[in-house]
Amino acid sequence: MEIVICKTKEEASRLAADMINAAVKKNPKTVLGLATGSTPVLMYNEMAKAVKAKKVSYKQVKSWNLDEYEGLAPTHNQSYRYFMNENLFKKIDIQLKNTHVLNGLAKDLDKECAAYEAQIKKAGGIDIQVLGIGSDGHIAFNEPGTSLTSRTSVVYLTPSTIKDNARLFFNGKLDEVPTRALSMGVGTICEAKKIVLLAFGENKQDAVKGMVEGGVTQFCTASALQMHPDAWVFCDEAAAKKLKLRKYYAWRSATKLGLKA
Ligand code: PGA
Repeated sequence: MEIVICKTKEEASRLAADMINAAVKKNPKTVLGLATGSTPVLMYNEMAKAVKAKKVSYKQVKSWNLDEYEGLAPTHNQSYRYFMNENLFKKIDIQLKNTHVLNGLAKDLDKECAAYEAQIKKAGGIDIQVLGIGSDGHIAFNEPGTSLTSRTSVVYLTPSTIKDNARLFFNGKLDEVPTRALSMGVGTICEAKKIVLLAFGENKQDAVKGMVEGGVTQFCTASALQMHPDAWVFCDEAAAKKLKLRKYYAWRSATKLGLKA
């Protein structure tokens, strides 16, 4: 796991966007796994800037998102499909037909999840998976206690995730946050060829510590990324503060990226 530690989240987002833009330039048919939440928004803005400046094109890129709430229509302003349209897809030149988000209104949710896995497989697998991390160490909606080999399925949110999400979304209304969602599994995520995880702010300190320097455990599902051969964590100093070897990680990753540490 490579840990890139930047002074600010703006700088970390720029570096992460550079990594993705460079991959898309190299392979215009890159398959992306995408994430929602407050964390990737700055990175998505950087990607949009690069497209606007004609430095890269996402015309042939295909994407699959990590998760979606149960019961929300794609047009619902708190659905993850809506979020992606507003925060990324409308701002870049990706074709909407090439973007995929789980359908939280599907009649048969298990069938929807199995079909999603099959689509990803047919596309040749995810080349780069974008991730945030929950304050409880989750990736996608894989809460503590989820098998580290789990596949896309219906999942149950913890009270802490419901609280986090109500704080940032749903106008702070706890009882409006769905308690179930459809989510790619930890096993599904770990099959991506490359991982780009973003973590910003003090609220993520413990989760980042668990992910990087804790044991591999289903109590912090992000720790499964320790087993991944090409996982990159982009964080700000606040999120990295509890890492024992943070200076070493910062030096090593900066050197690998050709940056001044
Ligand atoms: P956040 O959510 O980006 O809104 O902090 C991250 C997550 O729960 O994965």
